[in-house]
Amino acid sequence: MRARIQADPLRPETRSDKVARHLPPRAGAGFKPQHADAILADDFRIGFLEVHAENYMGAGGHPHRMLTRMREDFPLSIHGVGLSIGSPAGLDPEHLARLKTVVDRYQPDEVSEHLAWSTHDGHFFNDLLPVPYDEATLARVCDHIDQVQEALGRRILLENPSTYLGFRASTMSETDFIRSIARRTGCGLLLDINNVHVSATNHGYAALDYLTDFPLLCVAEIHLAGHAEDMDDAGLPLLIDSHDRPVNDLVWDLYEHVIDKLDPLPTLIEWDNDVPDWPVLKREAQRADAILDRHASFAAGLRHAS
Ligand SMILES: [Fe+2]
Repeated sequence: MRARIQADPLRPETRSDKVARHLPPRAGAGFKPQHADAILADDFRIGFLEVHAENYMGAGGHPHRMLTRMREDFPLSIHGVGLSIGSPAGLDPEHLARLKTVVDRYQPDEVSEHLAWSTHDGHFFNDLLPVPYDEATLARVCDHIDQVQEALGRRILLENPSTYLGFRASTMSETDFIRSIARRTGCGLLLDINNVHVSATNHGYAALDYLTDFPLLCVAEIHLAGHAEDMDDAGLPLLIDSHDRPVNDLVWDLYEHVIDKLDPLPTLIEWDNDVPDWPVLKREAQRADAILDRHASFAAGLRHAS
């Protein structure tokens, strides 16, 4: 019988909901093996590295040798993309066992997964698909997160999705759904601010309203990424969460807004397609570091003055 935190799912978070943060409050980068030598030789020290768990589920070889070397020098976050936490069926026990092997091997500072599903009846999809926000789905997602946290023996972070459609069956907002998950399971949250901007644009609501209602005290890591711009059949803007270019200025503005409200937070630059040379990715990380430093200095100045 799994233990679960019982609470009013719609009650706003309090200071006691504030989650521990295990990564340094600096910019990190998604680790790509082609950057290893440049990262190790660079005078600029990236705050942490993040890898996709599924890329390290094989038994051995070059990927593991390289990540073992990087792990000696850098804090590490392991980010799963294939657990299918929102799946209508149960979790795949073999995938969960493989994830546990990776986590046990590297002892990362954080482990995160998506609020999405990507497998059903043994079929695997390349996309992270959305879930309806209703009580039945909430109970199922919480049960899956309980299973994951129990299997790994640690708290995980859950990432807000980028979505392109909504469900008529939804009975609550995405922010209430996520708040309820955090309170019921004790998991932390990974706030992907590009996902917020992409979803807000695609559904026609204000990203700032979403962030105002998001349980920010539960956030232990932030993601920033680039997106592609397209148009839907009605000629309205359609943003695609493509991770193939620099972070958009509107997303940087939202990031400043969030950091202004909170302490500095570990912030990952995600760049998974058309991956540039290390100096380009580093510049994005340095831009995030500059924002974190500015707000940390401002906050320290306020404390000193009071
Ligand atoms: Fe993300």
